[in-house]
Amino acid sequence: MSNDAVIDPAEGAGPDNSGRRRFLTATTAVVGAVGAGFAAVPFIKSWNPSARAQLAGAPVTADISGLQEGQRLVLEWRGQPIWIVRRSPAILEALPTLDDQLRDPMSENPEQQPDYIREASPQLRSLKPEISVLVGLCTHLGCAPEMVAEIRPEPFDANWKGGYFCPCHKSKFDMAGRVYQGVPAPTNLVVPPYYFEDDNTIVVGVDPSATDATGAA
Ligand code: FES
Repeated sequence: MSNDAVIDPAEGAGPDNSGRRRFLTATTAVVGAVGAGFAAVPFIKSWNPSARAQLAGAPVTADISGLQEGQRLVLEWRGQPIWIVRRSPAILEALPTLDDQLRDPMSENPEQQPDYIREASPQLRSLKPEISVLVGLCTHLGCAPEMVAEIRPEPFDANWKGGYFCPCHKSKFDMAGRVYQGVPAPTNLVVPPYYFEDDNTIVVGVDPSATDATGAA
């Protein structure tokens, strides 16, 4: 079962044609959710970038009103997969306890997220605690990490607190995209610029501190 929904911006997620926005796999997203736990399925199976979308650099708008705890919405911006995840209270509670196992727990590498997002929360790396937005590419060699969001022992980590596991070379990231120590990936996953247009609408690809856009609080 998949906990992923996918938006293809070439099909209408952009600001100019948001009326035609659609979820390509919304059904599987609903079926796959079981509370905060669910089976992790590599998004790459359902992510299907088009040539038009890969070339597009325009911001992408996403409606997250249907995004349940533990679910991930996958969309595309500048040819990259963008993950939007609603984190559970248990995940949010676990994140600060991981700091001493991480390479950059306070997001001090300025290349990996916009300043205004680090300022909002260097540990959660998000504007709203429960909503995480990440570029879904491993910072080692660019593979697609798997989301393994349940807090439970895993073969690759007996004390797993939920996060992303890259099977290519076994890099691990927490549910804020912070990289663990002792893995090949050198840096945290990238947080793209984004802001909230309203409670349920995220615009990815716009830094509100560099424009007149609002809603970043
Ligand atoms: S590409 Fe992810 S660990 Fe190597």
